Order: sequence, then structure tokens, then C-alpha cells
Amino acid sequence: MIARNSPLWAGYRYATAMVARNSPLWAGYECETAMVTRNSPLWAGLMIVTLPFDSIFDFNGKARPGRGTMDAGMHDRKEYDPMSTIYWFQGRFLPKEEVRISPDDRGYYFGDGVYEVFRVYGGMLFEEEAHYERLRKSAEGTRIELPDLADTATKLRELVKLNEVADGTVYVQVTRGEAPRNHLFPLRAAPVTMAYCTSTPRPIAAMEQGIHTVTTPDIRWLRCDLKTLNLLPNALFKQYALDHDASDVIFHRDGIVTECSASNLFIVQGGALVTHPANHLILKGVTRDVVIRIAREAGIPALERPFSLHELAQAEEAFVTGTTVEITPVISIDGRPVGSDGPGLLTRKLQQLFYQRIGNL
Ligand SMILES: Cc1ncc(COP(=O)(O)O)c(C=O)c1O
Repeated sequence: MIARNSPLWAGYRYATAMVARNSPLWAGYECETAMVTRNSPLWAGLMIVTLPFDSIFDFNGKARPGRGTMDAGMHDRKEYDPMSTIYWFQGRFLPKEEVRISPDDRGYYFGDGVYEVFRVYGGMLFEEEAHYERLRKSAEGTRIELPDLADTATKLRELVKLNEVADGTVYVQVTRGEAPRNHLFPLRAAPVTMAYCTSTPRPIAAMEQGIHTVTTPDIRWLRCDLKTLNLLPNALFKQYALDHDASDVIFHRDGIVTECSASNLFIVQGGALVTHPANHLILKGVTRDVVIRIAREAGIPALERPFSLHELAQAEEAFVTGTTVEITPVISIDGRPVGSDGPGLLTRKLQQLFYQRIGNL
């Protein structure tokens, strides 16, 4: 790797920006770009040189706008492992190879655990307190004991520094612990906490061009407000979306739209935002709340009320929100375009306000 304070760095950055995504050099390039901090003068240049490539190619390197691009091409870049080398496991920083999780961990048997994913921008964790608040609620709802969250916060910030993550995510999970397989809670299981970071580029192509979606009945359980490890339905339907040449599903219960497999959904109706209320049927997204806040601050009405598939089909605009997808326009639903043509004006305005918010961290 070229040191960032070396005179070679700027030239290197320019040269690597020209690396096509389908080239074997791409993985190395992505590692390097993830290291450029947002407050560095290189950041603006990086955004300018990389944007055209993200706008032209999806992660297959194919010029096919909007399809299957939202997850930074997890299916397509098998050789690139963005996960950090140093983990935080049971109170210690360890190399990944030394993390030992028992086959008796209830997370493994039952998905008996809770988790959070934080966004890292310029080395800083975004909306930290909101994520810890949700982790507390998930733990309360599942009766899982959490480690001390003030200490966790310190350790997760340290983890980001140790792994030199500038732009990426922090994943933290707490399982109920290790015990011989039995549905009943063990009397004496000690919770198991594990965290790692990723250097994941922002999904710029999807945020620019928008994504295609398909609707499907929401067959998940009735505590979708808890962020638990039980993600099999979400995973099944994410795959269903990909199999239908879309980036995500839009769930509905008896015709009432809830959310997507890993994000919240907003529609624009009469110039106002509408999104499902934060009850047991959806995960109360941290990004969802930021978007509601910035919209209201800008004088854009944001209504939290149930809306139907019919209203979805008639929407002027639609977009999804999430920690990794930020604000991503939805440009088609079940093969029909949303609104007039491509991402809508209000969606664009909210994206700008959101970028200002993260730019001022
Ligand atoms: C089902 C579901 N809904 C919504 C969200 C968005 O939440 P956040 O904005 O906190 O990432 C997620 C994120 O993982 C999710 O899994």
C-alpha cells in the first residue's frame, strides 16, 4: 500500500480511479479508496474521479443501470473480503483467525441474538446513540443481557481506528451465550459479544440511478421492531428479489406496505413523505428517523401512517433508507416505473440534505 502522506499518493489515486470494476486490480483499488478519509482534501477529488465509473458500471462491470447494485455487489466480488482483520470478541481485540465461537452458541442454533450495524464516515460512527438505543430495545425484547454499552462504544471506536476504516460499517452482535441445545433459556449462559468492521464503499451507482423492486407478502414474525439474528426470511426474500432481477423486495401485509428486506420504504404523495409507523411490523430504522428529521427541518411534511399497495403504485416517488444504502431511489416496482422518469426531485433534495448532514460530522 502507498502511504497517504507520500507524494506518490495523488498520482496513484488518479491512476487507480481509472481501474475498471471487472479488472483484477479492482479489489485492491477499493481497499485503498476506503482508506481516504472524508476530511482529507483528497476526498473531493476521489468522489469526482470515481463517480463516473460507479455511474456507468454496476458491480458486474456491465452497463445495466439500477439492477442488483444496492449491496455493493456482494454476489459478484467473491475475492474481495472487506471484513476487518481485527475483531472485538469477548472484551478483547483479536485477529479474526483467533476468534473462537462454540457450536453450542445459541446464536448458531436458534439465531438467539441481537445485533446492530453502524455506518462509519470519515472514521466516525454515525448516529451512535440511536443505534445503542435500538440495541437496548432489542435486548430488552429478547431478554438478552448486554455488555456495558459505554465501554462497548469506546471499544467500537477503537476497533475502527485499529482497522483504519474510514468509510465502512461496524457490525456488533450479542448472543444469549453458549449452552447445550435446548429451547429453554440456559440458567447460566454468559452472553457472547463479537464485533468487526468493514471497509465498504458507499453504493453510489444505486444511489444515483435508483433500484428496481418487487412486492411480496410479508411473512415475517410480528416483532420486526427487534433487530435479531433471525434473518432467514429477509435473506430468502433478498434472494427472491435478485432472482427476479430486482435489488430488493417491498413487503406488504394484506395490502399494507411495511418495509423492505433490509431497509425502510418511503413514498412521496402530494409533495409529502409517507412511511409505515414505527410499530412491531417494521424495524425503526436509524436512517428513517434521520430522514424524517431532515425533511421536517426543511419544511417537507413527513407522515408516519400505513399506506396501501394501491398508494404505492400511484406514488409520485419512492425511496428506501438504511445504514448502508442511505437514501436510494426506487425507480420501478413489479416492472412498472415509479413516477415520471427516474429518481424524483424530492428524493434528490433529501439525498442532498443527507449528504450535507454526513459531510458535517
Ligand atoms: C428490516 C430492516 N428494516 C429497516 C432497516 C434500516 O435500518 P437502519 O436505517 O437503522 O439501517 C434495516 C437495516 O438493516 C432492516 O434490516
